[in-house]
Amino acid sequence: MCGIVAYVGKNNASSFLLRALEKLEYRGYDSAGIAVCKENKLNLIKKKGRINVLREALQGLSGFEGFTGIGHTRWATHGEPSDVNSHPHTGNSGKIAIVHNGIIENYMVLKNNLIKKGVNFSSETDSEVVAALIDSSYEGDIFEAVRRAIPSFEGSFALGILCSDFPDQIIAVKKESPLVLGFGDGENYIASDISAFVEDTRNICRLNENEMALIKADSVSFYNFKGEKINKNITKIDWNVGSSDKGGFEHFMMKEIMEQPSAIRETISPRISNGEIVLKSLKNFNEEYLKNVKKIFVIACGSSYHVGLASRFALEKLTKLPVEVELASEFRYRSPIVDETTLLIVISQSGETADSLAALREGKRRGAKVMAIVNVVGSSIASEADFVFYTWAGIEVAVATTKAYSSQLASTYLVALYVSKILKTVSESTFKNYLNYIELLPELVEKILLGKEKIYEIAKKYYQCDNVFFIGRGVDYAVCMEGSLKFKEISYIHSEAYAAGELKHGTISLIESGTLVIAVATDKRLFEKISSNIREVKARGAVCMAITIEPKKEEISYVANDVFFVSEIPEIFLPSLAVIPLQLFSYYSALLRGRDIDKPRNLAKSVTVE
Ligand code: M6R
Repeated sequence: MCGIVAYVGKNNASSFLLRALEKLEYRGYDSAGIAVCKENKLNLIKKKGRINVLREALQGLSGFEGFTGIGHTRWATHGEPSDVNSHPHTGNSGKIAIVHNGIIENYMVLKNNLIKKGVNFSSETDSEVVAALIDSSYEGDIFEAVRRAIPSFEGSFALGILCSDFPDQIIAVKKESPLVLGFGDGENYIASDISAFVEDTRNICRLNENEMALIKADSVSFYNFKGEKINKNITKIDWNVGSSDKGGFEHFMMKEIMEQPSAIRETISPRISNGEIVLKSLKNFNEEYLKNVKKIFVIACGSSYHVGLASRFALEKLTKLPVEVELASEFRYRSPIVDETTLLIVISQSGETADSLAALREGKRRGAKVMAIVNVVGSSIASEADFVFYTWAGIEVAVATTKAYSSQLASTYLVALYVSKILKTVSESTFKNYLNYIELLPELVEKILLGKEKIYEIAKKYYQCDNVFFIGRGVDYAVCMEGSLKFKEISYIHSEAYAAGELKHGTISLIESGTLVIAVATDKRLFEKISSNIREVKARGAVCMAITIEPKKEEISYVANDVFFVSEIPEIFLPSLAVIPLQLFSYYSALLRGRDIDKPRNLAKSVTVE
């Protein structure tokens, strides 16, 4: 989704802004722009396309050498990707420029009122209304104009605001969209995400809901929306933000696939000590609390939701508590049975997904305690949860998640086993046995990655297919959901995940000669059943690639055309292994099709609108 950056200091603002926008590229965008203030004049440039288009357009242009500026990457919501719809947007006076992330839900009402007063608009965006309203409230005090305009906006907004009458300052505003400030030496920054300026400073402060800041090169003042000064602390980030270069790989996605053993290790190692799971940071997540928990509800979106689906098997089996898994975007629109006896687990890589955040709030409103399993430290979901379990996977740049998915999954196993120990729902020996398997995961994933060339060879056979069906049963079906999403999101090939038993209730009519069916058959107990399902689709002309466990590799090679196997471990942990060949298959198919793997069309890394 949209990314915001801003700079005020002693150096050329535009070179920082372009560099910082590039760091936010991973969020997904379709256009970019900057505005720089030089000698009481706003200079603005915005372009549809990648940041290098903007960079090239800037070559030789004068007026962009100023020391204060704002920048934006846009992910279109209101109006197509175009130069005119890109940010920054300005008011009619030409003095005020803004960048916005979020959605102004009542923008049409505001826009119509302003049009009646003679204000002109040039874009189709909701964001232009922010510039226009601040502009029309402006009587010489920009801070006051912003403060007066804010109550009119409904929806979500992180804003960076620049006014040519105040060339040495930026105003930052936050409601429901993330915004973080960075503090340098005689220069300060704002951004949607720390990664934009982490190379310049590790001293940061996140704006909380309904807060704003007045930022100059050598001072920052914080306010609430009433304009009252507030105190906030600057913190130094001591965690590894991770490297945002490709480390010799052609794509971030492959780098991140290969980083999975270390990412899982980072997730689990600090939490295992002397044969026990130690969740020090989860204060009050103890027997007293857990004995009153009657149900677990897992809420998430996209791949994180698939983690939820896969984790249900471990959570139910180990904790013996009923577990419901639901899409965050649906959760709020039912009347979910959630109360103080519910543990709500919200899973999110970014910690900023708008639907997940809204579901978290709804769960809390209904009395549940919330555990957040998140990757991005200090993100909104982490800040609002009662218990925070950081996955420590490091920065994930590719839009298609891989290492974050694996770390989330490992986190859910630890939580499941930890709870089961406290509730005494597993024996001591079962606990030890399962914990050993969790500790083995990084090594087993490493082993699978060694066989990646084999997946490349299989992808070469099938990458030209038009339709792919992923079938599986039980925990394998949950893996299929993730495999199918990963595959379609980066290859742009249509695919569907199906519970193998459901195929003959309708979908099998789509199987014809040459249709590719990917069968995930790792759960030994269901092996015969899925083998029959493979035979059924093959009898109708399908070709089949199967993912199974080592002891079953020969048996399945009688029915499938291609077989890839992983080690045998308890079925509740098998998703961690079975997903790896599917990630690789997606990657190689997309590569062979020449897709923009790290930044697939229409997608954003951080989905901050509902
Ligand atoms: O940051 P989150 O984990 O909350 O994001 C949820 C989804 O947007 C995300 O998993 C998405 O489905 C991925 N791009 C899939 O690869």
